[in-house]
Amino acid sequence: MRTTVNARTVEYEDVGQGIPLVLIHGYPLNRMVWQAQWEGLSDSARVIVPDLRGFGGSVIGAGPIDIGTYADDVRELLDALGIQGRAIICGLSMGGYIALAYERRYPDHVAALILANTKAGPDNEQGKEGRNKSIALANEKGASAIAEAMLPKMLSPKSSNNTELVAQVRRIMESATVPGIVAALESMRDRPDSTPTLLEFSAPTLIIAGADDQLFPLSVAQVMAQAARNSQLVILPDAGHISSMDQPAAFNQAVKEFLKGVGE
Ligand code: MLT
Repeated sequence: MRTTVNARTVEYEDVGQGIPLVLIHGYPLNRMVWQAQWEGLSDSARVIVPDLRGFGGSVIGAGPIDIGTYADDVRELLDALGIQGRAIICGLSMGGYIALAYERRYPDHVAALILANTKAGPDNEQGKEGRNKSIALANEKGASAIAEAMLPKMLSPKSSNNTELVAQVRRIMESATVPGIVAALESMRDRPDSTPTLLEFSAPTLIIAGADDQLFPLSVAQVMAQAARNSQLVILPDAGHISSMDQPAAFNQAVKEFLKGVGE
């Protein structure tokens, strides 16, 4: 589906009925990483899946962008869809950074958080340096060079033999725009520490980790689960960084179980 929010084109999925469940993708990806979720969870929730600005079918727009901009975009889309009540906000990796920014900015609109393959802490100096190198790479060589560098870290070793899945992830990453990539990298590099946000959050929180996530070790998920007061941690076997695509059935099962305990 496509709409115009503040003169900017936004593409998204909106399927099912019930409590709104917003799925926010990671970097340098787009809403297609959630296809198995909007297909598999629409009998349990109203599943809303935007492309972040600069990715998929969503136009990057004008003006400065930080991690809060993406959270504002989610809020504006929900407004445009007439959703004023609380929603479950689910983010994977960079999507998790945005979910936490959303909770900071719109706490009255959050029923629960699902934080998958992500972390609450900010980038350290080495991480920031890595972002700057990736920005230079994207500007010099484009999205395919970024895809090439990231692809080996996206899926579990087991799924790396699944040529169809690997090709799908590559296609998604190669379709990203350079301005979208650069804005996302700058936003992630400069994002604040979300640990205080998580420490204050008392609504239900599901932390999902991939047992084979090469970007975020399990310890990162355990730290988040300890910080959030009302949390449960689910570790998905054989799941890499994009656990929603790597182990879609197990991911959906974890979310379905969690939804049973969340009221509107
Ligand atoms: C993502 O998957 O969104 C990114 O790899 C997160 C990050 O680079 O911090």
